[in-house]
Amino acid sequence: MVTGASTGIGRHLAEGLAARGMAVAGLARGEERLRTAMDEVAAATGGRTLAVAADVTDRASVEEAVGVVRAELGPIALLVNNAGLIDEFEVPVWEADPDQWWDVVSSHVRGALLTVRTVVPWMVLRNSGRIVNIASGMSTRANPDYSAYSVAKTGLMRLTESLATALEGSDVRAFDVAPGVVDTPMTRSMHMWEGFTDWTPPERVVELIAAIAAGELDQWSGRFIRAGKDDLDVLCTLAPDDADRQLRLHTYGGDDPLG
Ligand SMILES: NC(=O)c1ccc[n+]([C@@H]2O[C@H](COP(=O)([O-])OP(=O)(O)OC[C@H]3O[C@@H](n4cnc5c(N)ncnc54)[C@H](OP(=O)(O)O)[C@@H]3O)[C@@H](O)[C@H]2O)c1
Repeated sequence: MVTGASTGIGRHLAEGLAARGMAVAGLARGEERLRTAMDEVAAATGGRTLAVAADVTDRASVEEAVGVVRAELGPIALLVNNAGLIDEFEVPVWEADPDQWWDVVSSHVRGALLTVRTVVPWMVLRNSGRIVNIASGMSTRANPDYSAYSVAKTGLMRLTESLATALEGSDVRAFDVAPGVVDTPMTRSMHMWEGFTDWTPPERVVELIAAIAAGELDQWSGRFIRAGKDDLDVLCTLAPDDADRQLRLHTYGGDDPLG
């Protein structure tokens, strides 16, 4: 189940996962665009797709959507929390419109919370499942023009860690996957990417998430990996230690009492 599957990275993911033989349920708010996208993915891959219009920030909508997915396609093996918004006005935080700011945070954090609380109990019951939260460079570094998005992506990363820690000892795992810089409607709307050409191929994102779904990157549960920079073969051979690729406070050195 991929949220935000009607365009951009979510649509690429739907296509890449369907091409690898998975039945894919896509969620998004706009029903027509979603339905067209899922039909196109099915036609291109010969795979099974399902379009379920839903707003991930709405509890009843998520509960209903997950019920439809489970009824139509069976247990959810992979949940990708990909849906989300970006700051519409690229201004410092004190100039931001508080409602749009909060909508951005909600789309990533409340959205992931609601899908997790609806999907993960079933994964725990089956002792099987993978959750991917789509992260960003702004998960670990704030951007002054995108303060809501920075808060949202950092919060989402903390949610992944909480989730992965709570799931320790089970065969259900949670990951942060940053997609790099993919050419999508979101990045095309962002001033900071004007004139940018070195886009991350979406296939790099798909291959990481497909490897997670196949259980090939389990040792990275609760940690951050990035498409376009991380090499899948290298990740498979590494065993991260301590807080590698996790959010922590950087201390000022050996004398720091917070070290
Ligand atoms: N593109 C990049 O380079 C990049 C880099 C780092 C991180 N990311 C992250 O990757 C994810 C996808 O980004 P993208 O660039 O593909 O974005 P995008 O082109 O703007 O697509 C966003 C998708 O999310 C859906 N969506 C938005 N709010 C929703 C809600 N409340 N409920 C359900 N669906 C919702 C949209 O459809 P509707 O509007 O119809 O709902 C659309 O399908 C996001 O989490 C983004 O933050 C992207």
